[in-house]
Amino acid sequence: MNIDILLGLQWGDEGKGKIVDAISPGYDIIARFQGGPNAGHTLEFNNIKHVLHLIPSGIFHRDKINIIGNGVVLDPAVFKKETESLGLTVEELTERLVISARTNLILPGHRILDAAYENSKGNTKIGSTLKGIGPAYTDKAGRNGLRAGEILTSNFRDMYDERLRDHLAILKGYDFSFDIAEYEAGWFEGIELMKKFRIVNTEYLINNLISAGKRMLAEGAQGTMLDVDFGSYPFVTSSNTISAGACTGLGVSPKKVGEVFGIFKAYCTRVGSGPFPTELNDQTGSILREKGHEFGSTTGRPRRCGWLDLPALKYAIMINGVTRLFMTKSDVMSGFDTVRVCTSYLSGGEKCEEIPFGKTEIEPVYTDLPGWKEDISRLREFGDLPLNLRNYIKFVEDQTGIPVTMVSVGPDREETIFRK
Ligand code: GDP
Ligand code: IMO
Ligand code: MG
Repeated sequence: MNIDILLGLQWGDEGKGKIVDAISPGYDIIARFQGGPNAGHTLEFNNIKHVLHLIPSGIFHRDKINIIGNGVVLDPAVFKKETESLGLTVEELTERLVISARTNLILPGHRILDAAYENSKGNTKIGSTLKGIGPAYTDKAGRNGLRAGEILTSNFRDMYDERLRDHLAILKGYDFSFDIAEYEAGWFEGIELMKKFRIVNTEYLINNLISAGKRMLAEGAQGTMLDVDFGSYPFVTSSNTISAGACTGLGVSPKKVGEVFGIFKAYCTRVGSGPFPTELNDQTGSILREKGHEFGSTTGRPRRCGWLDLPALKYAIMINGVTRLFMTKSDVMSGFDTVRVCTSYLSGGEKCEEIPFGKTEIEPVYTDLPGWKEDISRLREFGDLPLNLRNYIKFVEDQTGIPVTMVSVGPDREETIFRK
């Protein structure tokens, strides 16, 4: 079992980037399998902060192969900007990073369509990151996509122009003004940069390396509750963010998957619209937002904050087959006399422990636990953590039946406790 998967169990931003970077030394390949520049994965080390959108979070490790998988949607303009922001040379990047020929491209028209669709939705806006994700996956499923491997063909420009005509025709039906030229210049510069990279059938590359005994970490984007099938539809993203998505998004068999690491915050956040049963619209929510710097890594929007939601966490564990839990941001929860955990819901006066379908109104039922007040960011041993935090972790383990084997106590790579 040479493939492990790391993914978010909540509504995204669980700290996936930080943890992928921290555990990358144990792998040879780090691969993104879905999503695109809607993701914002933050890494901190040596007092420098990087936010990655498309590039896998293993990129800062010299001897690793990073793969942008076939399941990702790639915006060449964002790709170019991102590569220029990393402090790595083009030579270093082309050595470390490979792109799947099957990766679908986000076209300038997709970004504009994303904005036009959102603009046309009154109070049912999804809160899209406006990066063109939905329209790009729509064209992929509709068999109208342009793929990375095609940028190397002689009729690429004609294929692009054809798609542009289609997008402009759709946009005629929307009362929305835009300037496509604004996007196009940077987009074509990104295409030229992409040509310097290896664009190959990464499914062969991966499977050959795995057969030769190499190890791969598949890095999820977004979170399980944003999955297009199992999230709070329609307030979701347009890809399968769950462990099964790693198989389709990279071309690997589920038989080769070993561990599924599920990351969750000690509390919950959500950015964008949609149901959030434990949301705190009060002082406690504001404290979590300020202390946890809960502002979007991609859009800068304030994240909605709330208590840990165990029925949602159990659902995510079930769908993904999580084998180990990693808990982040426990340092942000320091300072409360009491912390609350939602253990079930009330639906029409009845207790329920399942995520209901659709718009069913639910209310959280809480269990209160004693909080912890210590500054824990300097601690590096699990046994040194405050007793009440260890009891909080034990409560989660007892409720979910899955061990919490890593606790993150700050944003830096070093601020990570692996439980022996
Ligand atoms: P991702 O999308 O899952 O990679 O997460 P984001 O990077 O969007 O958001 C997580 C934020 O929390 C980033 O600013 C991280 O630097 C930060 N972070 C990650 N783990 C911890 C932690 O344990 N404690 C604190 N205080 N911040 C953390
Ligand atoms: P990472 O990988 C948090 C949310 C958006 C919106 C919905 C649909 O950093 O955890 P989209 O642009 O995909 O059409 O937006 O999904 N969303 C995220 N929220 N973290 C993310 O990624 C997200 N990617 C998309 O806010 O509600
Ligand atoms: Mg993020």
